[in-house]
Amino acid sequence: MYKEDDAVGFIVFCNRADENGNHWIPALMIDEKHQGRGYGRAAMEQLIELLCDMNATRLMIGHRPQNEAAGGLYESLGFKKVSEEPVDGEIIRLLQIP
Ligand SMILES: CC(C)(COP(=O)(O)OP(=O)(O)OC[C@H]1O[C@@H](n2cnc3c(N)ncnc32)[C@H](O)[C@@H]1OP(=O)(O)O)[C@@H](O)C(=O)NCCC(=O)NCCS
Repeated sequence: MYKEDDAVGFIVFCNRADENGNHWIPALMIDEKHQGRGYGRAAMEQLIELLCDMNATRLMIGHRPQNEAAGGLYESLGFKKVSEEPVDGEIIRLLQIP
């Protein structure tokens, strides 16, 4: 992701569903000096729109339990915890698209 010529971060996503119909988003990373300026939210909103256009129905993302920035962002976008207990150290969240 770029702001003009400056790389502000990157996002990694699977453009195909796994055997359970899940489209995983393995990584979202905003450069430290660009954090807290709305880039993470903007990137996620654009990715959700893109995956909707690809007829994805189940978007999955994980984050460390102590990562309040990531958890708050994903929760506000509608990603619900799949379980309260971390799996392999991560809280897994699902955004179900109707
Ligand atoms: C987590 C991360 C992707 C958020 O991106 P960002 O561009 O900094 O976040 P934004 O400015 O778009 O903020 C979006 C929301 O995140 C949350 N947030 C951001 N910084 C926060 C902080 N320091 N503490 C708590 N919540 C925070 C808020 O809910 C904010 O909501 P708002 O838009 O209503 O204010 C970014 O900080 C990052 O890359 N961190 C390091 C790597 C990482 O943790 N990646 C995610 C793990 S999967």
